[in-house]
Amino acid sequence: MVQLTLPKNSTVKKGKVWPAETAANGKKPKRSKEFKVYRYDPDSGANPVVDTYTVDLDSCGPMVLDALIKIKNEIDPTLAFRRSCREGVCGSCAMNIQGGNTLACTKAISDCSGAVAVYPLPHMPVVKDLVPDLTNFYAQYSSIEPFLQTKSAAPEKEWKQSPEDRAKLDGLYECILCACCSTSCPSYWWNSERYLGPAALLQSYRWLIDSRDEETGERLDGLEDPFRLYRCHTIMNCAQTCPKGLNPAQAIGEIKQMMVKRKT
Ligand code: SF4
Ligand code: SF4
Ligand code: FES
Repeated sequence: MVQLTLPKNSTVKKGKVWPAETAANGKKPKRSKEFKVYRYDPDSGANPVVDTYTVDLDSCGPMVLDALIKIKNEIDPTLAFRRSCREGVCGSCAMNIQGGNTLACTKAISDCSGAVAVYPLPHMPVVKDLVPDLTNFYAQYSSIEPFLQTKSAAPEKEWKQSPEDRAKLDGLYECILCACCSTSCPSYWWNSERYLGPAALLQSYRWLIDSRDEETGERLDGLEDPFRLYRCHTIMNCAQTCPKGLNPAQAIGEIKQMMVKRKT
């Protein structure tokens, strides 16, 4: 049998156990929670580790992001993670919490049983700690040309769209490009250089079915390739993990149908 092992320098080791927080009155907190957080600094040359922090929940907000901010502000200022809006809109706090990709700002601590395991999005190079390198992900998004393209003369005012055609964008325009779906997709893990992945393909479909866009044929030409579109094997991790409740697998299926229809 083939034995697969991680290269020595990527084995995650036990890290530091930080002293537990005391409550505001200087006593042991009534409610506290452990957070086991992945730490990695590529510049150090050391293996990644998992540090343990114990947070007083009575002086912490309700979400995992609140706990990470508290850890950074009050326990360990070297912890690195991304965040901005703290309300599920910007997509920057996407990470792997309790084994699932999600947004730290919308994941309630009370929904996590036991110690809360916090890792960066899987299968991406790590810049530091919980910060993944999304260069390839954004380049792929850019490659689908995510903007309206027309050939007709521009109208005097706006490009109009019927309410029915506008409704076709529902379930697509809400995508916040958090990358939770693509980094949960096994096909993307193995072929992320060549397969566009669920996020870029959902975005591509958003422009393919926009009634105002006039580059549909060219957009489909750009996807006609054994890897860019056809590596989706309907494993459905993407739809299961999307924190906005979207279904990239369905959008990919619709693109495949458009491909078939234009050939017949
Ligand atoms: S489809 Fe969902 S999971 Fe994927 S990038 Fe968009 S919002 Fe994130
Ligand atoms: S349905 Fe397709 S895109 Fe979604 S996780 Fe599975 S292989 Fe990836
Ligand atoms: S901080 Fe913006 S989505 Fe979480």
